[in-house]
Amino acid sequence: MKLCMIGTGYVGLVSGVCFADLGNEVICVDKDINKINLLQEGKIPIYEPGLSELVIKNLKNKRLKFSTDLKKSIRDSDIIFICVGTPTKKGNSSADLSQIFNVAKQISYSINKFKIIVTKSTVPVTTGDKIEKILSKKNNKKKFSIVSNPEFLREGEAIRDFIYPDRIVIGSNDKKSSRILKNLYNPLTSKGAQYFKTSRRAAELIKYASNSFLATKITFINEIANLCEKTGINIEDISIGMGLDKRIGSRFLRTGPAYGGSCFPKDTKAIISTANKFKINLSVIKSVIKSNKNRSNLLLNRVYEILNKKIKNKKITFLGVTFKANTDDMRDSSSLIMIPSLSKKGAIIKYFDPTGSKKEFKKIKNVTYENSIKKSILKSDLVIIHTDWNDFKSINFKNLTKKKKFIIFDMRNIYSPIKIKKMGFKYFSLGR
Ligand code: UDX
Repeated sequence: MKLCMIGTGYVGLVSGVCFADLGNEVICVDKDINKINLLQEGKIPIYEPGLSELVIKNLKNKRLKFSTDLKKSIRDSDIIFICVGTPTKKGNSSADLSQIFNVAKQISYSINKFKIIVTKSTVPVTTGDKIEKILSKKNNKKKFSIVSNPEFLREGEAIRDFIYPDRIVIGSNDKKSSRILKNLYNPLTSKGAQYFKTSRRAAELIKYASNSFLATKITFINEIANLCEKTGINIEDISIGMGLDKRIGSRFLRTGPAYGGSCFPKDTKAIISTANKFKINLSVIKSVIKSNKNRSNLLLNRVYEILNKKIKNKKITFLGVTFKANTDDMRDSSSLIMIPSLSKKGAIIKYFDPTGSKKEFKKIKNVTYENSIKKSILKSDLVIIHTDWNDFKSINFKNLTKKKKFIIFDMRNIYSPIKIKKMGFKYFSLGR
């Protein structure tokens, strides 16, 4: 199959490269010439384990190409995947679909034969209908089919998630394109991935409903963790005890800082905005957003308590500042709330992140990046473990600090409280 991925961001790049690796001819297009130049040299603009190796391999065997020529790429392909961004609109909570509609127009000008046009970007219900309208305007009738095929890739695990997905959702209103897409995904379904064919609108909503549900699950366990802290219960026991119920399941029941990233915050807002248009009140998701917003303040309060409300001139270390481990993504990371707030209160902050320093903190007073765990911890009063990178999972705290014992606030519950306390450190974690 000849595939064209429009947009070489996270979704387009990972999906394009994986499709090429499955034996398809793939052309990834982007209007950003610098990005395309980098990719043509096998250099990856994002951090994603395993991606670089796959890009280099498939560039070599010529199944993967990168281009800025949208028109030619569309003409040369059978299936076109729209993978451009759908960020939150400025001053609004709905999804900004301008990039999607712009691409749809470009496609309508370039169609030369029957094409399947697939939205992989996360788009609100009825977006497929709108794309269809745009394409129909150009007398392209019967020359295309619009399908929804949402992605469920987790950053940091994206390649594994692509190759071993729990499910592949295809939302299509016609049989021909469903059949072609089923064949495209055959290498994955033959290894056990569930293939679920549904209507286009349903596929669009499945994506938002799934992300909102996962965000709810995390927020739920975070609130239960708050209760555990007051009642002397270990949240880990609750997560295990609940997770053993097959109706609940054990995943996404790990307590932590406020959820972040490129999907959950944006998608929970967008689904509410969509529901509002249909006069439906998604009150559960509304309270999830509110509770998650409150979580960073709640954790900041714990920091104040831990430091006896004396923040001024306190040396605080953050281990990990991205929204989670195994990614360099800072979008909606809770560190973006916590670090500026602590700096405002006079704290002196050092941070280490395996993916390097972050531009977001360049202008924040008294915040500096250190290029090792050791340097970032030196002379610290409080060490906050913000993400659970493997690098942070077996730190020998005793060896790192000869003179002074710092306090540890483990926001990912990586360490055993008993063991750390035995080493003589004051240790705090979440929900236990
Ligand atoms: C998510 C979805 O998982 C993916 O299917 C979708 O397509 C894109 O959004 P991602 O944003 O990469 O993926 O991150 P994910 O691993 O889902 O984590 C999201 C947030 O939840 C992070 O802030 C993470 O730290 C937090 N989280 C996750 C928890 O706090 N506890 C958990 O048990 C799981």
